[in-house]
Amino acid sequence: MRVDVVTLFPEFVQQCAGFGVIGRAVERGLLDVVAWNPRDHADGGYRRVDDTVCGGGPGMVMLIEPLRRTLAAARQATNGHAEQPADQPAPVIYLSPQGARLTQDKVRQLAALPRMILLCGRYEGIDERLIEHEVDEELSIGDYVLSGGELAAAVLIDAIGRLQEGALGDTQSAAQDSFSDGLLDCPHYTRPVSDEYGEVPAVLLSGDHAAIARWRRMQSLGRTWLRRPDLLEGLALAVSDQRLLEEFIREHKGNPHEQDH
Ligand code: ADE
Repeated sequence: MRVDVVTLFPEFVQQCAGFGVIGRAVERGLLDVVAWNPRDHADGGYRRVDDTVCGGGPGMVMLIEPLRRTLAAARQATNGHAEQPADQPAPVIYLSPQGARLTQDKVRQLAALPRMILLCGRYEGIDERLIEHEVDEELSIGDYVLSGGELAAAVLIDAIGRLQEGALGDTQSAAQDSFSDGLLDCPHYTRPVSDEYGEVPAVLLSGDHAAIARWRRMQSLGRTWLRRPDLLEGLALAVSDQRLLEEFIREHKGNPHEQDH
């Protein structure tokens, strides 16, 4: 997949894509991240990319023209790969607190696309007319305000990059993620089995794969019930899951502090 990012801080975005799982995905050619600076498409000696807010008020708004040119250049870019022609659909996604909240479902949809263009705003934002004419979708990573869209773009690139086929060493890992089936992930443990902070749950050492899978499912259901009941409301649980959750709730009520942080 190819991700073009329109940003006043291209080095930041490029660096974010240089580490860990995403860095390896880039090295292996599973993911291309190309940053575009609107300043390179701005006029005049000052290469101005922003101006004051019409109607008055604090801050600056990003100009239409440099962004229009930058988006056109990004759309035209082919990467030199025959399989990534410029005519492949590349939705323009604007990262902003006004966008729809990003979810794992949305991440999965975007991860399946061949291309996308991420637009990062700074200052008070971007001239609304540019958004109306060029942006296909506006996404927010949460109900808080960042000083620009770059961190949000980095979050999106990470979430999408790790879902590219072959990006994760163990193909199981993505399937077991939190949210992959609408539930939170179960707790995980490693050695030592016994520590001053406590013991690894005995079932995980039993070698009984069915019992381990059952315990993990129960923990996933229970954690979701405790921490994100809103997620459970949207799910139609199978009867077996309902039973596991009831069992978790019974145990939790007998021992509330053990499971709840
Ligand atoms: N830009 C500023 N705040 C943001 C947010 N919460 N999500 C996405 N982009 C942003």
